[in-house]
Amino acid sequence: MVRTSGTILQSVRTVGSVRHLVRQRTIHSSDSMIDLRSDTVTKPSAPMRQAMASAEVGDDVYSDDPTVNALEERVADMLGKESAVFVPTGSMSNQIAVRTHTEPGDLVLLDRHAHIVLNEGGGAAALSGVTMRPLAGACGVFTPEDVIQALGRAHPFNPPTLPSPPTLLCLENTHNSGGGTVWSLEHLHAVCAVGRERDLTLHLDGARLWHATAASGVSERDYSEPFDTVNVCFSKGLGAPVGSALVGPKPVIERARRFKQQYGGGMRQSGVLAAAALYALDHHRAELSRDVENARRLAESLAAHDAVGLDTSTVQSNIVRFEVKMDSGVFATRCHERGVYMLPNGQHGVRAVLHRDITDADVVAAVDIMSTVLDEAQASRVG
Ligand SMILES: Cc1ncc(COP(=O)(O)O)c(C=O)c1O
Repeated sequence: MVRTSGTILQSVRTVGSVRHLVRQRTIHSSDSMIDLRSDTVTKPSAPMRQAMASAEVGDDVYSDDPTVNALEERVADMLGKESAVFVPTGSMSNQIAVRTHTEPGDLVLLDRHAHIVLNEGGGAAALSGVTMRPLAGACGVFTPEDVIQALGRAHPFNPPTLPSPPTLLCLENTHNSGGGTVWSLEHLHAVCAVGRERDLTLHLDGARLWHATAASGVSERDYSEPFDTVNVCFSKGLGAPVGSALVGPKPVIERARRFKQQYGGGMRQSGVLAAAALYALDHHRAELSRDVENARRLAESLAAHDAVGLDTSTVQSNIVRFEVKMDSGVFATRCHERGVYMLPNGQHGVRAVLHRDITDADVVAAVDIMSTVLDEAQASRVG
């Protein structure tokens, strides 16, 4: 790989063949990396930046930023809900939802690998004082029976004051730690129906709901229908630099606004950010199916390598999780040295996430680099 500040010439070979591709990119040198760490690395496109620069703005804490107001209306309408609140991050959106729906001591049911459990800094305990009951889902998808089991059985011999009051059931679609798992609408309805029967409030962490829609063809609106609130993120794969929305009934979102302010999420001329989100919805959302296809191509090529463990049926959207027959940290470091950036996970696990800044040729190049690293590791073990 030859790098210059403005132009990169890369000579890459496809897996198991002698075909050479010469790629030429006219981009900044920092962009020469094929960055598969996350879809949060997507950068605002030039026209998105233009939309941000020309956004009409006001002070959103006084509710007079017209671009934020337009985004909130747009997202509420898209998801078939009454109202929405624009917040800086998906974590804040989820945490506001948990706080809005619960009282300290309440029980929240959700998958054991949910982002809310694993990756929000213990926010649910610290900010809402809730207890979490992690369910043993398969790739992030649990069953109605799991919910029923977790709630236990009411009986006059069991004092109802002993357990934490179950209040909230959360689903995640797509499921990040599960490997971008897409819930089927039927299964999602079955789980939500059990939650409703048990008087639970329902929240969907739809940070990548767009990807679930791109992969399944089920609209965001249909996916959102059974839930009281839904979190969606504009910073995951859509190129927007920042921003999420919590969507739901008007009184619930009014209460959520209080916690947005309490958590320090009150922003002023945030129309600049909302403009990026609107641009992303109008222009980038429709392109996500390409990332789903690229994830499949990457997964199928990797699965053909005998040093890779990957069940391609688990690759359902833009995330590819796989195992390598070497230390995943060493694998990630060696790939990084050759221009592919990925996150190791555990002893052998690796995550690669496809997104709009990854070209079709990047996928070919990434597979080639990963295969070379694995081949070299195998050869050194044999030698
Ligand atoms: C499923 C899911 N929910 C929530 C979040 C949190 O989003 P943010 O990074 O904007 O806080 C993420 C982040 O990647 C995520 O994957």
